[in-house]
Amino acid sequence: MQKSLKTPEFGAPLPAACPSDEAVALLWRRRSTPADFLSAPGPDSETLQKILTIAARAPDHRRVVPFRFVVFEGEARAEFGETLADAFKADNPGVEESRIEIERNRFLRAPVVVAVISSINAAHKTPVWEQTLTAGAVCQNMLVAASAFGFAAQWLTEWYAFDDRINDALSMAADENIAGYIYIGTAKEEPRERARPILEDIVTWRR
Ligand SMILES: Cc1cc2nc3c(=O)[nH]c(=O)nc-3n(C[C@H](O)[C@H](O)[C@H](O)COP(=O)(O)O)c2cc1C
Repeated sequence: MQKSLKTPEFGAPLPAACPSDEAVALLWRRRSTPADFLSAPGPDSETLQKILTIAARAPDHRRVVPFRFVVFEGEARAEFGETLADAFKADNPGVEESRIEIERNRFLRAPVVVAVISSINAAHKTPVWEQTLTAGAVCQNMLVAASAFGFAAQWLTEWYAFDDRINDALSMAADENIAGYIYIGTAKEEPRERARPILEDIVTWRR
């Protein structure tokens, strides 16, 4: 594990490529761990800073920075669970308490949950679609970084990523959207491989 990584200064020379068998192995076998199978420990604050720093290095046309993070740790996870439970209760009057408990405990499934907010600047020359893609790349960078630091993770949206009341609780502007909630922790159980696209089905070679 690299302990002494320094954030490159602006204009510093950087390697154009970083050949690494370990990086290839990580990407070759990368697998999400369902949030229900996550537990503590999560990354400490220094490691989490690094994970977020790596996530924020995603490709970003014209440096719009069309994303931001809200990080949930500790008590804040249970507090946010109350917000989820209240909204769920309002939508499902009379629903049994055990079902509401699921909402209350959602963010408690992992020690760290990062809301990645797609924050579009529609007036910018960079197309909205490209800005949207950047937020997705940020989420993927975060998953890969978490794995490289030894943590399991899952990218979720679930119902609360599309709910105005929940977005308001995150102080999101009308033109902001949840790109994903990234749950980060330690796997209680190793995941198994899922079906993957067959390359021949999705690649057109033109030579
Ligand atoms: C934008 C986005 C939202 C997702 N939301 C959910 C979700 O709400 N629930 C879920 O079970 N999986 C969701 N997934 C899928 C998982 O994150 C994961 O990709 C999937 O379980 C396959 O695992 P893999 O990442 O190992 O391929 C989402 C993926 C993306 C890209």
